[in-house]
Amino acid sequence: MKKKDQVIAAFEHKYGKEYRVFFAPGRINIIGEHTDYNNGFVLPAAIDKCIYLAIQPIAGNTTYIHSVDFDEEVSFTLDVDHKTLPHWALYPFGVIKELQKLGKNSGAFRAAFGGDIPEGAGLSSSAALESVFATALNSLFDFGLDKMTLAKTGQMAEHNYAGVMCGIMDQFASIHGKKGHVMKLDCRSLEFEYFPLELGEYELLLIDTRVKHSLASSEYNSRRKDCEEGVMIMRRDNSQRKSLRDIRSKDVITFLGSIGEQVYMRCQFVTEEIERVGYTCESLLEGDLEQVGRYMFETHEGLSKLYHVSCPELDLLADVAAEIPGVLGARMMGGGFGGCTINLVKSTEVPVLIETTRKKYLDAFGKEPEYYKVNTGDGAGEII
Ligand code: GLA
Repeated sequence: MKKKDQVIAAFEHKYGKEYRVFFAPGRINIIGEHTDYNNGFVLPAAIDKCIYLAIQPIAGNTTYIHSVDFDEEVSFTLDVDHKTLPHWALYPFGVIKELQKLGKNSGAFRAAFGGDIPEGAGLSSSAALESVFATALNSLFDFGLDKMTLAKTGQMAEHNYAGVMCGIMDQFASIHGKKGHVMKLDCRSLEFEYFPLELGEYELLLIDTRVKHSLASSEYNSRRKDCEEGVMIMRRDNSQRKSLRDIRSKDVITFLGSIGEQVYMRCQFVTEEIERVGYTCESLLEGDLEQVGRYMFETHEGLSKLYHVSCPELDLLADVAAEIPGVLGARMMGGGFGGCTINLVKSTEVPVLIETTRKKYLDAFGKEPEYYKVNTGDGAGEII
């Protein structure tokens, strides 16, 4: 049974036949990693793997949410101490609370949800969960919030309830996605444009390490701090330097003495990566996929050697891919410390990429990676 139908069946079984159904997708990112919280650019797309939500408002104060994938139900009133909730419930609870801060009070409801976004794969299943609730509650209770506000609500739920100080990319992509397109988002102005993703005889393949190192969220937050520290020092003699967006990569070296080596490496990577998003968009427009692929390899190198958010599993997958003719680019994707690599590969060479990485990964780590062919998809909405 498809996941959407499983969710509907679970809702009907537990709560009855009156409901509306919403969905929100996961995302990929072509390039622009760890740039969003530095006011830079990103180039994500929504994918056709989603969280589905069947939901119905009810009278009273108690909300019921059933997670199909965890086979668990929670019920709460809004004054509950969120620390008593299971981890998955923090996302919808956080969204409700963040909406409340905007003066938008959700009434009680019952809901069932589940998804086919592999969890822990760096495809933003948590952002999809936030986005599907934000979208559904906005519609159910007529809040009239625009899409960007919904994305920010999800981001704030992540900050304040999941404790990850993420940027806006994942929630933005989940809500604004458009099938067949990637989006170039300016994370400072929040202006964005759609680019058709035309890959001709190439395609995108995700290779999932199936590891998620436990350091992921604390290291993520500490990278963010390093970047902020760098900016604080670099703006001492020029207040126009408000974020790493305002510093050219070639100038970062001049601050090495004052910011120290670790912060220097973080800032060097981010400033280069922000510039790379611009170059990659130019190459995409020119149809120069070979150049796009080279930028992807450069990004991996920087994430691994300067930003230190890769891990042996991701490095092996990127290194093995680099040796295969027909692979134009490969890099780790998302926050790091596990999850997927994204590979730009000639369609005819996909079997070679799969077989070679499978064997080398098995030899090195005693297990096989997972493979997902990427299809882009539409952003969050209601399924009528
Ligand atoms: C995670 C965060 C995003 C972004 C990426 C890295 O996915 O949620 O905001 O920072 O990592 O690019």
